[in-house]
Parts: sequence; C-alpha cells; structure tokens
Amino acid sequence: MITKTVNRLNTAFKKEVHEGLTSELKYLSSKYIYDKKGDKLFQNIMAMPSYYLTDSEFEIFSLHTSKIAALFEERSGFDLIELGAGDGKKTKILLKYLVENNAKFVYKPIDISQNAIDSLSVTLAEELPGLKVDAEKGEYFEVLERLQQYHTRKKVIMVLGSNIGNLLHHRAIDFLTQLKDIMNEGDLVFMGFDQMKNPQTILDAYNDPEGITEAFNKNLLQRINDELGGNFDLKAFKHWEVYDPETGTAKSFLVSLKAQDVRISAIDLSITFKPWETIHTEISQKYNDAIVTWLAEESGLKITKSITDAKGYYKNYVFIK
Ligand code: AVI
Repeated sequence: MITKTVNRLNTAFKKEVHEGLTSELKYLSSKYIYDKKGDKLFQNIMAMPSYYLTDSEFEIFSLHTSKIAALFEERSGFDLIELGAGDGKKTKILLKYLVENNAKFVYKPIDISQNAIDSLSVTLAEELPGLKVDAEKGEYFEVLERLQQYHTRKKVIMVLGSNIGNLLHHRAIDFLTQLKDIMNEGDLVFMGFDQMKNPQTILDAYNDPEGITEAFNKNLLQRINDELGGNFDLKAFKHWEVYDPETGTAKSFLVSLKAQDVRISAIDLSITFKPWETIHTEISQKYNDAIVTWLAEESGLKITKSITDAKGYYKNYVFIK
C-alpha cells in the first residue's frame, strides 16, 4: 500500500518534471519543493523578518482569537479542517483557545508533506494533549473529494499562509469552487490572502540576501537530483524574483548562468540550457478586496467577514456558500 502511494507520487513527479522541462518555456511546480529539507527551509523563510506574511497572520490570530473562535463554534461540535497545515504555528493559538474553552471539535490537518504531518502530530500531542487530531497527508485537490464524507457536523475549512497565492487565478477558482461543492449550509471557509502593498516590501520577502529563498527554490533541482537521478549543478543557476504591481503577481525563476546540459536518468531525459534561460518555479499572488470578491463570485461563494493586521499587509476572509 505504502509502496503503491510512493510509486504513484513518484510517477506524477516524473511526469510533471518531464512536461515542464521539455516545454518551450521551462517550468517546474513549486509543490515539489516540500520534502524534509524544503519544509525546513520554508520554516526558516517564515522566521525571516522580511517574510512579513507569517507575522501578519500571527498578529491576526493573536489579537482576534476569541472573535475567530466565535465564528467557528457550534453547539453540536465541528470539524476544523486545515489544508496545508505546515507547522501549525498560527493555528496553535486558536487550537489552544478552543481547547481551553472546551469547544467540541476535531482538528484535521492536511498537508502535502508527510514530514510536516508527522512533526505536527508530535508537537500537538505534546503541547495540547486534550486536542482530538485526525491528520492526513495529501494534495489539496486529491483530498477535497474525501472531505465530502464530513457532513454530519459543521465544517470549517482553513487555508492559511496565503497558500492560495501559489495557484494561478483559474486554478484558485477551481479550488474555491470545489470547496463550495463540498460545503453545506453553515459550513465556512477561513482563508488568508496576502495583500498588494509597496512592491519593494514584496520583493524583499522573496529575495533575502542570506539566500534562504534561493536554497528553497533550488530544492526543486535538488529533489530531481536525489529522487530522479538528475545531475543539476545548483551553483550554475540563480534565483530571480519579479513582482508586477499591476497584476499583483510575484514570480520566482531559476536562471541558468551558462550554456549547460543536464541529464535526468529516471526519465531518460537530456535537457540543454542556453545562457540565461529560465525555469519558472512559483507564483505568489497578491490580492486586494476587488480580486478576492471576484474570485468568490466566480466560485459561487460569499464573503461575510474579513480581518486584517494593523499594517493592512494581510487579510483573512470568511466565505460561506
Ligand atoms: C507557501 N507559499 C504561500 C509561500 C509563498 O509566499 O508563496 C512559499 C514561498 N516561496 C518563497 N517564499 C515563500
């Protein structure tokens, strides 16, 4: 069973790497950054003062804990489902509050990284022994169907960290539409959206001089080397970030510093890079109320509330069906 799942994932990884690196404009999906090393690098990113997203959402959870809890609470209990739970740093503030106030709920964290799920389960058992946890590994789109079976109690679906920003708008609409389809009356979605702001602040968040974001981005190449028998020379690529203040889209690239050939033996692929040729690796979309309202309308959802931090850098929105 485990071998089967690993094989399937490995096959999807192989297929997507092949597709992306044989395309006219090369690309790789940022979802493959997250293995044990990628998770650790992302935690280091979240600890950087320049990566303001985490502090902003942490502030919202810290200053408005009871307000958020009041939105979720239901006498008959509820399922708190978190997609992309990661290390649960922000959620733990809320979980602690809910446990201390004897809320009747089960916390169901879901993450693409088995490593993240395992360490979150361990820390939650230590820090909040009274909490009922039902953790699961999986990709957003893959687990959504399974969530349909959660219909006996109110569902609260949380997606924090502006994780939605890693999806292009049309995929974000697909995702929100699928969320709507599994929601019943009374269910809600609580989602974080990083807001448009001074373009320099945004660029700085994705361009630290210490090279943590660069190492994070390059972990894609490292994984291809480790898992698919690739021979990428990581030093021969440069991390490059751009931000378009008109559309609110931040994009990450890896730029080839020279003409070079790369071989990936597990997919029997040889690729040639011209000097300065790019691999597009990630988008991190920034939003405003108009864009989020449009996404909600396109997906058949309604915004009923939003909470922002003091600087207005970040906003959590509540959606109902
Ligand atoms: C997980 N995701 C929302 C992060 C972001 O801001 O796009 C990933 C990240 N990429 C570079 N730094 C952080």
